[in-house]
This record gives sequence, structure tokens and C-alpha cells, in this order.
Amino acid sequence: MSYHKILGFEREPFSTSPDPDFLYMSKEHEQALTNTLIELNLRRGLNIILGDIGTGKTTLSRKLIQELGKRDRFVFQMILNPSFENEKQFLAALVRNFNLPEGLDERSTLVDIRDAFEKFLLDGTLNRQKVIILIIDEAQKLTDESLETLRLLLNYETNEFKLIQIVLLGQMELLERIIKHENFYDRINFKFSLYPFDIGETRAMINFRIRRAGYQGKMQLFMDDAIREIHAYTHGYPRRITMMCHKALKYLILKNRYVVDQDVIKSIIEDEERLGWQKTAKVLQPSSNFWRS
Ligand SMILES: Nc1ncnc2c1ncn2[C@@H]1O[C@H](COP(=O)(O)OP(=O)(O)O)[C@@H](O)[C@H]1O
Ligand SMILES: [Mg+2]
Repeated sequence: MSYHKILGFEREPFSTSPDPDFLYMSKEHEQALTNTLIELNLRRGLNIILGDIGTGKTTLSRKLIQELGKRDRFVFQMILNPSFENEKQFLAALVRNFNLPEGLDERSTLVDIRDAFEKFLLDGTLNRQKVIILIIDEAQKLTDESLETLRLLLNYETNEFKLIQIVLLGQMELLERIIKHENFYDRINFKFSLYPFDIGETRAMINFRIRRAGYQGKMQLFMDDAIREIHAYTHGYPRRITMMCHKALKYLILKNRYVVDQDVIKSIIEDEERLGWQKTAKVLQPSSNFWRS
């Protein structure tokens, strides 16, 4: 029997997969999602969400896709690993992703592919009234050439709106790159950064995931002092919180205990330190202004 069943869960509460059902909508995650949806509806073009590793970007993108999927109006594709060597490779991937078959094969030239994509954007947007959306995760991996390709795609527009909507999700280093790329930077329509959780959000996220996983028990599984300890150790990074909570529940089973208190967390941390696996997290302050105003 799996550990979560023994503890009274229907599903694993602290898996690290980017399952949108387990995304706790903190004020910031909510703001990022709602604003992105509004901007996509308005068809203003380029939207960027930044955040350190483990702040919930990929999970948020899954949630966004879930929302987009509810309406026929949206045609969307997601690229998970945008490491393209040149413009042709990038555009060919777009054409493949959006299922454009007609007349394109290995012999097609860059111009053929560009034309086909432009035709697709024009037809989809103007004739079929669709909102065409490209979502790119791990966007810090885009080369300068790929950023330029995206910039050119944003040139397709009518007087009122862009023909393609782009959502980039990437680590903070993406910002340094695009700041240097003035032409690209100036086109950003909506920008947002995700930061680690404060203690209240950490508590709310843990409780949310516990309930989401079907825990019906009346007993509080994580004591307040444990949550404080978790927050201090993980610096509020959702991925690290998730991993710590997973270890804590496993600990309960192994040691035949019922609640996670401060001692449980301390003892896990001590074990990690003994193994030399602990890592000092890079801490971001929500007050820092990453965006050039
Ligand atoms: N708001 C949140 N609520 C619950 N879990 C979260 C939240 N944000 C991130 N997580 C969890 O943290 C882990 C890392 O999230 P992920 O989306 O992969 O981060 P990123 O893409 O920014 O590196 C996942 O297990 C995810 O479920
Ligand atoms: Mg990610």
C-alpha cells in the first residue's frame, strides 16, 4: 500500500509533477493567470512570466492550457524546450506543432515555411476568428536568433490586434537577455514575476494540497511550528516546500508517528545536512524591481 493511502489520502499530496489540480492559487499565481487570460483575449501580443526555478511556472502554464481548452476560440500550442539552432528549425517546429501539413516537407525552404505560417495566422485569425497562442516554457533557452524570430512574428498585425499571441515563461536570466534586445523588450505587453511564498502562503499551499489529495481527517497533519521550519528552510520556494512535505509524510510512516511537528522537520534537515545535500537557496526579495520601469 502506498504511503499516502496509509495516511488517509486518496492521491499523492506532494508529488513534484506540474499537475494544475494541485496548484494553490496564491495572490500572485492568480494575478499572473488572470492577467494573461485577459491579455490573450485582447490579442495584444507578447506576455512574459518570470520566476526562479521551482516557483510554479510550468504548473501555471498547465493551468493556463486547462483554461484555454475550455473555449473554442483559442488555438494554442506549447513548446517545452525551445532550443532551436536557427530560424528555419524554429519555424518548422511551429508549423509541425500547429499541424500545418499542406505542401511542406523536408525540402521546403525558410521562405516556404514562413509563408505557410503567415497564411495560417491570417486565415485562423481573420477568417476563422481564432486567437492563436504560442506558449513557450523554459524560455531562457531561446537563442537571440529565436527571440528575433518571435519579434518578427509579432509584426503580423491588423490595426487592432496581433495575429499571434505569445506567452513566455522563463527563469530570471531571460530578463537580462531581453533587456539587451531593445526591440524585443519594447514589445512586451504584459510582464509578471513569480516570487517565493511568505509563511502564510506556505501554510495555505500545504493545507490546499492536503485537502486536494482527499485527506478527510480532522487532525492537523502539519503543526504550525513545522510550517515555520519548512518555510525557513525552503525560503518559500514551492518546489522545495513540496519536496520537504513529501519527506515529512514518509517520515511519519517510517517512524510510526501521526503529526509533522518541528522536530520531524529538524530531523529531516539534519539528515540532509549530514549527507551534505542541503543547498543554500538563492533568495529573491519580492520588493526587488526586476523590470526596468
Ligand atoms: N502555487 C503552487 N501551489 C502548489 N504547488 C506548487 C505551486 N507552485 C509550484 N508548485 C509545485 O512546485 C513544484 C515545481 O513547480 P514548477 O511549476 O515545476 O516550477 P518551475 O516551472 O517554476 O520550475 C511542482 O511540484 C508544483 O506542483
Ligand atoms: Mg518549469
